[in-house]
Amino acid sequence: MSKLVSKKSSVVILLRVLWMILLLLHLHSCFFITAATCIQKEREALLQFKNSFSYDPSHPLASWNNGTDCCNWKGVGCNQITGHVTIIDLRSDDYQVDSYNSSWPLYSNNSIDSSLLELKYLNYLDLSGNHFNYTQIPSFLGSMVELTYLNLSNTVISGKVPPHLGNLTKLKVFDLSFNYQLQSNNGDVEWISHLSSLQFLGLTDMDFSKSLNLMQVLSYLTMLSSLRLSSCSLQNIYFSLSSSNYSSFLSRVQLLDLSYNQLNGSTPKAFQNMSSLNLLNLSANKFTAIEGGLYSSFIRNNCGLKEINLSWNSDLDVDLFETYENESISCFNNEYDLQVLNLRGTSMRTKIPDWLGKLKNMKSLNLRYSKIYGPVPASLGNLSSLEYLYLSDNALTGAIPTSFGRLLNLRELYLSNNRLEGVSDECFIQLGNLELLDISKNLFFKAVLTEASFANLSRLETLVIDHNEHLSLDMDPKWIPPFQLKSLVADSCIGCFGSEFPPWLQNQKSLIDLLLSNMSISSAIPTWLAPQNLTTLDLSHNKMTGSLITRIVDQMPNLRSLFLSNNLINDSLLSPLCQLKNLEILDLSNNRLSGIVQGCLLTPNLFYLDLSSNNFFGTFPHSQGNLSYIQQLYLRNNNFEGSMPIVLKNSHILDTLDLEGNKFSGNIPTWVGNNLLNLQLLILRGNLFNGTIPSTLCKLTGLQILDLAHNQLEGDIPPNLSNFDVMTRKRSKDGYYYYCEYSDAEMCYHSEKYVVQNIKSSELNYSMEQLKTFLVKIDLSKNHLVGSIPSEVIMLKGLFGLNLSHNNLVGTIPAEIGEMEVLESLDLSFNKLSGPIPRSLSKLSSLGVLVLSHNNLSGEIPREGHLSTYNEASNFDDNPYLCGDPLPTKCVNENSSEPQLKDMNNVDEEEDKWEKWLVYIMIIVGFIVGFWGVVGSLILKKSWRYKYFKFVDETYYKVDATIWKSIEFLKGICIPK
Ligand SMILES: *[C@@H]1O[C@H](CO)[C@@H](O)[C@H](O)[C@H]1NC(C)=O
Ligand SMILES: *[C@@H]1O[C@H](CO)[C@@H](O)[C@H](O)[C@H]1NC(C)=O
Ligand SMILES: *[C@@H]1O[C@H](CO)[C@@H](O)[C@H](O)[C@H]1NC(C)=O
Repeated sequence: MSKLVSKKSSVVILLRVLWMILLLLHLHSCFFITAATCIQKEREALLQFKNSFSYDPSHPLASWNNGTDCCNWKGVGCNQITGHVTIIDLRSDDYQVDSYNSSWPLYSNNSIDSSLLELKYLNYLDLSGNHFNYTQIPSFLGSMVELTYLNLSNTVISGKVPPHLGNLTKLKVFDLSFNYQLQSNNGDVEWISHLSSLQFLGLTDMDFSKSLNLMQVLSYLTMLSSLRLSSCSLQNIYFSLSSSNYSSFLSRVQLLDLSYNQLNGSTPKAFQNMSSLNLLNLSANKFTAIEGGLYSSFIRNNCGLKEINLSWNSDLDVDLFETYENESISCFNNEYDLQVLNLRGTSMRTKIPDWLGKLKNMKSLNLRYSKIYGPVPASLGNLSSLEYLYLSDNALTGAIPTSFGRLLNLRELYLSNNRLEGVSDECFIQLGNLELLDISKNLFFKAVLTEASFANLSRLETLVIDHNEHLSLDMDPKWIPPFQLKSLVADSCIGCFGSEFPPWLQNQKSLIDLLLSNMSISSAIPTWLAPQNLTTLDLSHNKMTGSLITRIVDQMPNLRSLFLSNNLINDSLLSPLCQLKNLEILDLSNNRLSGIVQGCLLTPNLFYLDLSSNNFFGTFPHSQGNLSYIQQLYLRNNNFEGSMPIVLKNSHILDTLDLEGNKFSGNIPTWVGNNLLNLQLLILRGNLFNGTIPSTLCKLTGLQILDLAHNQLEGDIPPNLSNFDVMTRKRSKDGYYYYCEYSDAEMCYHSEKYVVQNIKSSELNYSMEQLKTFLVKIDLSKNHLVGSIPSEVIMLKGLFGLNLSHNNLVGTIPAEIGEMEVLESLDLSFNKLSGPIPRSLSKLSSLGVLVLSHNNLSGEIPREGHLSTYNEASNFDDNPYLCGDPLPTKCVNENSSEPQLKDMNNVDEEEDKWEKWLVYIMIIVGFIVGFWGVVGSLILKKSWRYKYFKFVDETYYKVDATIWKSIEFLKGICIPK
């Protein structure tokens, strides 16, 4: 027995000795081998790699230099034992942060440098976010067979992906996303099937419309479990496979992102078998139904599912909850792991079911724009993990449940644009983590919130209460809020503060946005209101009088956006505004301002300037000033004089120039057409411009409104009108969807807002007559133009309005004018046109206004088709040789009965209706098209995109309460049934 024991203990001792030796060896390696510096050849390779880039001196790459150990360089990692370089991580994802002078962190004119080949042991390469100037992926990357991680996302590479990459059989993570210009090899994706270790594949933004076998190929990859194929032009057919590889892929897949594709109808049946799913993103497709139901197919058996995104499938009818309300729940303890459910922009048309309150781990619930209605169930108060709740833009009724007071983790609560009627202090009183509260645009009959509501909201930064006519805030004048707001949006909350600035703003030192439009404010700006960081101030549509610009400038020196339109402000000096060094957006329209505009105001920061409808005079400055980055300039209805503002000569991104109703004179310079190539609206109406219309204007291919009416222009109409590219494109009247198909949904959403917002503000600011200017049209009326109507005009198939009246035009009306299919208004009156009225006009089924009077037209007025309804004789008056209905003159060889007297009242009514119709259509289409031009260019220009959306965000809350409804309503009007 003791022998056995000693034998055993000697084994133990032996093991201990071995252990010690191992430990020593290990320590040895720690002390000595890690010190292995990088290998000379590899350092040289890295230096060569470095030299292939240009970069900012502050970039970490700048510190890579010869004297130092490359293993310690930032972004480089080595094997601790061998000293070989194994990691290069030069990811750069902050280029969008400062987009003003967006400099890409690393920039290379050549493709990825082959010096990497020297790094035989490299297994991790991340170059994402750098700029390779549209060069190709080099095929040598395919021989870097040690790579397990390769990230080339967002690197501005283009061309075809070399099939050599198929040799990377150890690759586990491969990300090629966000390279818009990258192509698969004419649809050949076979090489991907060799990446046998692949677990993650990201191909977002690559066009696979020719690779019908894409999913088949991917299903050979037996390790693949995460797949991002967003925006890849995929269609349903890609997913109707029946191989066993495919089903085992589906049962294995954990992350599947198919957003922004062209998938439609029901979701593929096979998707019900995705039992390992963690994250599913099907947003921005055209799905109409979830095969098997959302709950049964995805939630019930996937207790580990964390995130579902079905947003922006605008016809998706997700009857997800009601059907399963009483069904047994199979997850242990009802513990669903679902944390994010995004159904924004769907068409649920249901009430919110109580059932939803059982998803206890929910952190973010988004039901915005999903056509839900009815009361908000109190059960939502059980979602104790909830941090973000989006219920805005629906038709919810009743009161905000007091159970919301239990959502202690809530950070953002959006309830805006519903029909909620009740709200009480209990709803918010305990929400100590709340950062954003948006209850704007509701009914709230006689609801009163007191300071008690806000007593514990010490983290509140954004308070949005605009457009609540019946809501009142009853705060003690001495109340000191526990929060420091960054944004307060209270537009049109008439009862919120009375006609004064609320005294509690006095201690709000962190304000960035203060939007108090349309609140009947008549008091002066108090001296205590001096938020130093304020960037946006909106006091438009109030009753502010006197001069207040100096005070604003002194108290809010960091303003970027200033909206003061529609007040009674009468400053006569704008020069104090020159001290606002960051000013980007300035709207002073509709006030009583006067004086001249100093050049110092016109800085490259300025993005939007509206001085319309004031009494400004003098020449618009051109010696000083630099408006290189202005996008919209409105000077209409003032007394400006002098030549076309030469300060605009280099405003290459200007899209709107409205000088209507001033005294500008002289020629329309050729640089307008040569330089302002982004113009969409050129409105010079009602000035004193003379000379000829420069033919360079025809270079403005994006133009949609050319309004030169009421000037003193002479000479011919330039013939190359067909260059107006936008005008030649035919649009459907519901142009909205036409444009949205090519954009991402978020943008559409914004554009939609923008459209309605502008309709709204147009209604406030513009007369009916002026509204008509917002369409796709050419108006050259009331000038001294001569010559004939260029036959190219018929190429303008997108034109809604053409007005050439009150000129001296001769010749005939182009016979093919009927080709301008969407034409709604044609006025050629008061010219010297001769010949017949073309019969093709009868093809124009949309033509609502046709005025041909006071010419020398002859022959019979065509009465076919649509034209038979034209009964207004005066529109054909004073054409001595014209005959037939509706004129009293009968044609000689016509043997019909006496012309009958028309019921004039009836006709008037008809016309009236038509006018309204026309205006609606024109506004919408005009704005959509105009706006789209803006957004379209923004897509291409990231920096501007950023800038623009900042603008949208800032003005975002200024949108009318009935946006969604009104767009639906207007669509209803505009789309012929
Ligand atoms: C690739 O890099 C980008 C950042 O540029 C990052 O967002 C993405 O998650 C990375 N991909 C993978 C799979 O790590
Ligand atoms: C890699 O792939 C390409 C094309 O698929 C092939 O021609 C080449 O021989 C392969 N091997 C290496 C080491 O590049
Ligand atoms: C245009 O008007 C300016 C003054 O506004 C005048 O000097 C010039 O001669 C006019 N040109 C023509 C062609 O009439």
